[in-house]
Amino acid sequence: MRVLGIESSCDETAAAVVEDGWRILSSIVASQIPVHQKFGGVVPELASREHLKKIAPVVEEALRQAKVRLEKVEAIAVTAGPGLIGSLLVGLVYGKALALSLGKPLVGINHLEGHIHSVLLQNKNDRQSDGNVPVAGFPNVTLVVSGGHTCLYRVECAEDPSAPPRFSYKLLGQTRDDAAGEAFDKVGKLLALGYPGGPVIDRLARYGVAQRAELGRIRMRGNPLDFSFSGLKTAVLYRVRGTALQAEAEDRRTWRDGPDGNANLDGLRARCSQGALDLLAGFQAAVVTDLVERTLAAARGGHVSSIFVAGGVACNSALRERFSQAAQANNVQVFFPSPRLSTDNAAMIAAAAYSHLLAGERAGPELTARASAPLGA
Ligand code: KG4
Ligand code: ZN
Repeated sequence: MRVLGIESSCDETAAAVVEDGWRILSSIVASQIPVHQKFGGVVPELASREHLKKIAPVVEEALRQAKVRLEKVEAIAVTAGPGLIGSLLVGLVYGKALALSLGKPLVGINHLEGHIHSVLLQNKNDRQSDGNVPVAGFPNVTLVVSGGHTCLYRVECAEDPSAPPRFSYKLLGQTRDDAAGEAFDKVGKLLALGYPGGPVIDRLARYGVAQRAELGRIRMRGNPLDFSFSGLKTAVLYRVRGTALQAEAEDRRTWRDGPDGNANLDGLRARCSQGALDLLAGFQAAVVTDLVERTLAAARGGHVSSIFVAGGVACNSALRERFSQAAQANNVQVFFPSPRLSTDNAAMIAAAAYSHLLAGERAGPELTARASAPLGA
């Protein structure tokens, strides 16, 4: 079964063709980073306009690369939420119109369910090329950590040989304020490192010493599996405001906005003092420690030995390293998607749709986009 997946929940217009729930025939992602960069964050109205421009060519390219004609696709899967409503509507209405005009089955997929399935998708592809790769199993604890979300789930899969697999999701905890990726992006903006902040901070933090800028543990009242990153962002602000680090950030901003400022990594690093690099390392270490410790606590509490980590922040090299160390020390297995499958993409949407389609689920004309669409709450 070949499924055309469409994803447009935030600032990437994406389409993919995935066969039998795992074989990626194509995966196209048109990023809008250049459009939003000068604003230091996603501007919803501009995002919707970009999706409108890109949706048709991105879908065409996905079909071309997959060497599949639209009429030969067996079903269409679209992200229905959560996300920016104007952005979601572009992909959803496009997918719905295709399905109606071609008489193909349509399913609406939760974006967070897509991220969870990106790990399985990666694992199935890895195992296909190397049978020694361990199976990413169930039940597990999944951390979805991105620019819009920081959530912990318990994921189960009911396997009955005579029926399609049925996945169920239980929300264990989530951020009460900023998402982890949002905190990276805000710190990146504060220190004039460009947008998005996450990938740049990841690279620059390697040159800093976290112990020289310790920001402390994040304490939570109530559910210990909830997260909060806004205090950490404020702690960074206090270390910068009115100090030499602020003047230095202003210099970087002027350089980046000027004719020579293409904001490459070497240029940025040359304009960062050791104090700034240490602060970035301290900030990143605090986020990583918090994410790893709460996820491990959830795994212990739920008696699971398998952890999935998905979403854009799953690209972070320190997070991957810390999870791998913790996995060894705690006798659990940790699975990540590749960086391309970690950030928003449509292959994960098509993959997540597979079990829904096998179970006979079909969206009717009433399918609509939802800005807020909790999974397993
Ligand atoms: O999953 P994604 O593409 O979009 C959302 O659903 O939000 O995630 C984008 C987020 C951004 O906040 C970006 O800064 C962060 O993922 N990110 C990273 C890294 N790469 C992307 N954060 C930390 N380290 C990275 N290497
Ligand atoms: Zn996402």
